[in-house]
Amino acid sequence: MKKNKMIKLLFAMTTTLLMNNVIAAEGEIEQLSVEHGCVTCHSVTQQKTDAKPVAPSFIDIAKRFHAEGDYEYLVNIIKYGSNPYKSDWKGKITGAAMPPNKGIMSDFEINKLLVAILSLDNK
Ligand code: HEC
Repeated sequence: MKKNKMIKLLFAMTTTLLMNNVIAAEGEIEQLSVEHGCVTCHSVTQQKTDAKPVAPSFIDIAKRFHAEGDYEYLVNIIKYGSNPYKSDWKGKITGAAMPPNKGIMSDFEINKLLVAILSLDNK
């Protein structure tokens, strides 16, 4: 095989692999967040209407929280719920607080879902 053709082929293969990762992340979010009811309040990507959402979209969460230390903060919110007296999204959402999932979701599932949610910003 000619060198040029080989490079093109390798490039195509790498691109396909990268795209598959993004699709895999969306698939994981889809499966776990439907299974655990997250999507009754959160939309995954930007919502299409002007009406205030119940909760921030997962893409907005990914855009906002990427500092070191944020990860643990978010794990705890998913596990124990958010503080109903101190909203991170004051005025932007209609929901009062994030309900706890401890005992409903395993740590493994929580981490898997959160990693997938935060990876939405990497596109
Ligand atoms: C009953 C509605 C509801 C459900 C169900 C729900 N959430 Fe939430 N969630 C909220 C609200 C409201 C907030 C915003 C909290 C705030 O105002 O600071 C939130 C916040 C969050 C945050 C943190 C954002 C921040 O700024 O503090 C994460 C991460 C999150 N939710 C993930 C999930 C996941 C994962 C699930 C499913 C296992 C889920 N949520 C299910 C209502 C919900």
